[in-house]
Amino acid sequence: MNTLIDKVALITGSGSGIGRSAAILFSQAGAKISVADVNAEHGATTVNLIEANGGQAIFVECDVSKPENVRSMISTTVKAFGGLNILYNNAGGSTMMDGRVTEAPDEEFWRVIGLDLYGTFLGCKYAIPELIKAGGGSVINMSSNQALMGVAGRICYTAAKGGIASMTRAMAVEYGGHKIRVNAIAPSVTLTERVKKLLEQSTEIQKQAERHLVGLAEPEDVANLALYLASDQSALITGQVISVDSGVTIS
Ligand SMILES: NC(=O)c1ccc[n+]([C@@H]2O[C@H](COP(=O)([O-])OP(=O)(O)OC[C@H]3O[C@@H](n4cnc5c(N)ncnc54)[C@H](O)[C@@H]3O)[C@@H](O)[C@H]2O)c1
Repeated sequence: MNTLIDKVALITGSGSGIGRSAAILFSQAGAKISVADVNAEHGATTVNLIEANGGQAIFVECDVSKPENVRSMISTTVKAFGGLNILYNNAGGSTMMDGRVTEAPDEEFWRVIGLDLYGTFLGCKYAIPELIKAGGGSVINMSSNQALMGVAGRICYTAAKGGIASMTRAMAVEYGGHKIRVNAIAPSVTLTERVKKLLEQSTEIQKQAERHLVGLAEPEDVANLALYLASDQSALITGQVISVDSGVTIS
């Protein structure tokens, strides 16, 4: 399905997990991929996987919580491929340091706010002018089921992902006139290497996992929705926070 032919897509955190799956899927759909990650080795592996499959990709080393890094991530991408059509703000994730509001360390609050929320803010801040130049485009943000339900023991992550869901709606309104669609994905437990480890250690996540109605997600399950949101097949969908959650938010 060549739904992204002639498109340029930048995916943050695509050195592993859901981001890597999306990078491979978007490339198979015809897009040129800018693989942005703080981990150079993992990012290079994603590029190799894409190239081995006949796709086109570059690696850009970037910490999404640093404005100068993000600015240069965008300009490097535009220089390499001549423009930008799709931004997928995927980098992020919770850790075992999170907890209830009375216990979670301030450091963990600012870590996840810096990475997930501020990283998404910065990505949009510097990429949207390029999408406007390209005549429109698609922004995909990464929220979480935790932004949509009351889950105990993950207060820092919940705050960051809730902020991303709210920003998504506001930015959809701000840039709809420029033909830019902004949506967010809200996955629940998805079996990336990082989350497999969290699942072993966290009884809160184990309890949530047991409530999934049709099994836990693989990274490709989330990447498939990202591909749809990136493509013109979702041309009328904007400002939405869409779950890939095996029914956990309704069970
Ligand atoms: N896996 C899940 O269960 C799940 C559920 C809901 C939401 N999410 C969200 O999906 C996204 C991806 O999750 P994942 O499980 O694939 O994670 P992952 O840990 O497998 O991959 C995250 C990638 O981001 C990179 N990264 C970390 N900090 C960075 C930074 N400062 N700048 C740039 N890159 C950075 C890492 O090097 C890694 O390659 C995250 O935003 C996460 O919160 C995941």
